[in-house]
Amino acid sequence: MRAFVAIDVEEPLRRAISAEVDRISSHVRPSSVRWVLSENIHLTLKFLGNIDQALRQQVEEMLADLAKRMPGFRISVSDFGVFPHPRRPRVLWVGVKDIEAGLGRLQGAVESTLVALGFESENRTFHPHLTLGRVSNRVAGSQLKDLSEAVESMEIGELGGMHVAEFSLYRSDLQPDGVVYTRLRAFPLEGE
Ligand code: 2AM
Repeated sequence: MRAFVAIDVEEPLRRAISAEVDRISSHVRPSSVRWVLSENIHLTLKFLGNIDQALRQQVEEMLADLAKRMPGFRISVSDFGVFPHPRRPRVLWVGVKDIEAGLGRLQGAVESTLVALGFESENRTFHPHLTLGRVSNRVAGSQLKDLSEAVESMEIGELGGMHVAEFSLYRSDLQPDGVVYTRLRAFPLEGE
């Protein structure tokens, strides 16, 4: 199964993000971006790829152990961004501010724990974000120019904050009508 570790977004913040996606998506052609369904929006800490049941059990044990030692923290969500670059948009996102540095600590701990289990290490610096949409592979030529112009003029202000009290292991299944994420287990942050 294909798995990843992520933080879920609380309902009031999810609604604020969803309203913002409705606003910015009206500026681009519907066929050029696949917008993430509101209920699928999450903050990825680590993408694991395919794992089997035995490895899943090891991952869960290590993450449960880690979560007992890490405290909860606050984040806030603001600012529109694009990977890799507004002229070559692939992923459209809203940024996550790590106001208490707790997110960086948690991500660092998750990364090193999972690398110790044999997962590939991430060589890019952690850039906390919530993916809002992915540019369709078919966008080319004048459509791409229109899209990058629209993207360059997009702005998102402060959408709100939330307290992060847990993170979760998810499975991802590609279905004919889109991806389905299932939460396998939540790990409450119980550290002081
Ligand atoms: P994202 O947060 O930037 O969207 C589940 O697929 C999540 O894992 C996605 O939200 C995605 O990041 C993240 N991810 C990281 N690397 C990935 C990969 N190689 N394939 C699919 N998803 C990946």
